Amino acid sequence: MSPLEIGIIGMGNVGSGVAKILTNQADMLTRRAGRPIHLRKATVRDLSRDRGVTLPDGVLTMDVNEVIDDPEISVVVQLIGGIEPAREIMLHCLNAGKNVVTANKALLCEHSDEIFAAARENNCCVAYEAAVAGGIPIIDVVGESLASNQLLSIEAILNGTSNFILTEMFNRDASYDEILHEAQQLGYAEADPTFDIDGTDAAQKLVLLTHLAWGTRVSLEDFPRRGIDTLELADLKYAGELGYKVKLLATSRLTDDRLEMHVQPTLIKTDRPLANIDGAFNAVSLMGDAVGRTWYCGPGAGQMPTASAVVSDIVDMALGRTALTFPHLEIWRAGSEHEVVPREEITSRFYLRFQVEDRPHVFADIADILGQHDISLASIIQHESPELDEAKEGECSIVPLVVMTHRTQLGKLLAADKALSELDALREPRIRLLVAD
Ligand SMILES: NC(=O)c1ccc[n+]([C@@H]2O[C@H](COP(=O)([O-])OP(=O)(O)OC[C@H]3O[C@@H](n4cnc5c(N)ncnc54)[C@H](OP(=O)(O)O)[C@@H]3O)[C@@H](O)[C@H]2O)c1
Repeated sequence: MSPLEIGIIGMGNVGSGVAKILTNQADMLTRRAGRPIHLRKATVRDLSRDRGVTLPDGVLTMDVNEVIDDPEISVVVQLIGGIEPAREIMLHCLNAGKNVVTANKALLCEHSDEIFAAARENNCCVAYEAAVAGGIPIIDVVGESLASNQLLSIEAILNGTSNFILTEMFNRDASYDEILHEAQQLGYAEADPTFDIDGTDAAQKLVLLTHLAWGTRVSLEDFPRRGIDTLELADLKYAGELGYKVKLLATSRLTDDRLEMHVQPTLIKTDRPLANIDGAFNAVSLMGDAVGRTWYCGPGAGQMPTASAVVSDIVDMALGRTALTFPHLEIWRAGSEHEVVPREEITSRFYLRFQVEDRPHVFADIADILGQHDISLASIIQHESPELDEAKEGECSIVPLVVMTHRTQLGKLLAADKALSELDALREPRIRLLVAD
């Protein structure tokens, strides 16, 4: 059969991995796709840079139009990161009648309406398995394999960099700054890791999964997100004492026909599988009404795991599998849109850490204010102050006070926090983390 002609736009880390698999596994892929998959063009900005893969002369080009205008290329693998020019290039490709495979979650998170509409108008498909959780085939699972289920919840560790940092801080009693620096040297964190550590990357992926699972288009502003950049080792250790691990958890949960969504550092009981996902791995826990709870785990990023997902999408394109599912996606989900629960109504147990003056009545004052806001306490940890003996006469030492609440609404806690901030005996910081039971 005639080969499926591919053009890669963006031969960076992932693009080079895709080229490696297409080159090294050509025979296997031909058998699986039913026809050869041929890399015809690959665009870069700098022709002189080593891509770690040998390509025939004439494949690399600096001109994106050599891909867009080539009538032989039917599938474009779009691997430029960020929004522009990736968005414009992707629209050009779709308007030229080409199917697109991409790993760009930032672009799909913000512009999937426009991009998917262009794909449907041109009778094309957009496949994006690589955009969420790298090597874990979670788009396939949520979009197709669990189509028999009403999904009830998604709980996921979707950022490997954050998970690596949390794991190493806890295991080695190290500070956030120390491990972030190490993660950058090892290549787990970008030179500018902002989107990884502030929760944006995980939130973008949660938006894509939520859209697939419930047909609801949510934007990043519609739900709270926080990253790991404000976490201290002390909180990971207190959580450990209480029988929990802290993970950056992305959650979408159907509750009373609305979606509760957040990306937050969250305490997870150590006997739950998600609590034991360490290092740069990702994991997703899905609850379906028929299947019950299922778990998926694997490398969430990196050159070859991400390329693995991209090439699987290319094989699906060759077999027509994406054409079967993609155009119908919106129709399946039509009529199932859900409102997002306002931030104040998010309901959970909470972990609170206060830095307090070690003197009488302080705990009673805190408990009183929490009680006035209808927040009841499940447990408390207060360690003896190490500075107790050194405290000067007339001065109090500052000790941490850790409180676990029963289930309550975030709005009540925020109101209580205002009142707590008036207490003289409380010092900064006041830490608040979600608890996922
Ligand atoms: N890396 C991962 O582990 C991973 C995991 C999941 C998803 N992703 C997503 O995959 C995509 C690619 O990531 P990556 O790590 O491969 O990025 P990367 O290494 O920075 O590669 C980007 C490529 O795009 C090319 N490029 C950038 N701007 C261009 C332009 N205006 N015109 C033509 N080419 C341009 C660059 O060319 P030069 O090389 O010549 O500069 C480079 O080849 C991103 O959307 C990322 O979020 C990455």
